[in-house]
Amino acid sequence: MNENPREDLAINRALWDARARVHGTTPQDTFYDVDTFLAGRQTLFGLEREVAGDVAGLDLLHLHCHFGMDTLSWARLGAKATGVDFSGTAIARARELAARAGLDTAFVEADSQDLPSALAGRFDLVVGTYGVLCWVADLDAWMRGAARALRPGGSLVLVDLHPAYQTVAGLDPFVADWPYGGGDPQRETVTGTYAGPGVPIATYEAFNYPHSLGEIVTAAAGSGLVLERLGEHTAVEFDGRGLLPRDADGLYRLPVSGTHLPVLYSLRARVPMGRTDDGG
Ligand SMILES: C[S@@+](CC[C@H](N)C(=O)[O-])C[C@H]1O[C@@H](n2cnc3c(N)ncnc32)[C@H](O)[C@@H]1O
Repeated sequence: MNENPREDLAINRALWDARARVHGTTPQDTFYDVDTFLAGRQTLFGLEREVAGDVAGLDLLHLHCHFGMDTLSWARLGAKATGVDFSGTAIARARELAARAGLDTAFVEADSQDLPSALAGRFDLVVGTYGVLCWVADLDAWMRGAARALRPGGSLVLVDLHPAYQTVAGLDPFVADWPYGGGDPQRETVTGTYAGPGVPIATYEAFNYPHSLGEIVTAAAGSGLVLERLGEHTAVEFDGRGLLPRDADGLYRLPVSGTHLPVLYSLRARVPMGRTDDGG
């Protein structure tokens, strides 16, 4: 943990406020196309839909929701969705997008490591996808909050960048320079955004946190969640880091010396039916 995690949070929030201001607002943005979204485009990928299963009628909490496209996509699949993000700019834009899409979806501004108690015990699913835990200094607090938000029998669904892929800085030549886990804050200078190379955005500082798969699963277990499935995926529909070649079948892979390393992991973990209010 950083000695002053609130400073990390303020620095990261400045980056995400800036991204939330610009994402989906320029023609250079190849990822967040608001017009096609409003026309009905589904933004969720097959992997998270498969791991979540049928969400119709379920109370779903989407953590790290950004400006709400995925939260609203869960709502279009029939979930009663609530989105959470620590960026006030993202939450304001998410509310505006929900109104434009005609969807009655709640958005809450909060740090995912310190979720409001009003969210406790209300959800069948807690979901986080694509670029979540690398922003989290306190993995145990994040898992405790997710577990507390669930009803007994409810499940956490995580689809995120695999920590092995996060160690990689470049493919040609192959360079891996990030720690595989440990949680130590990595202070970085961020230029541009994954939403498109030409999206106009200033350079920001950011703190990221490397968590190994073992640390992630152990934190989930420590919060009382019971692992149902853990997947490691070498061929994926979306490359959140923009480093990977796209193969002829349309999928992205991480090639290393004639084999492929995992790009994403998926995790589903359940709150046992007998959980008491104190999490025991
Ligand atoms: C890579 S984006 C997630 C992208 C999302 N799946 C999408 O495609 O729109 C990461 C999100 O995490 C949010 N975030 C970062 N740290 C957070 C924190 N401590 N609490 C809540 N949200 C946080 C950012 O504001 C940003 O919206």
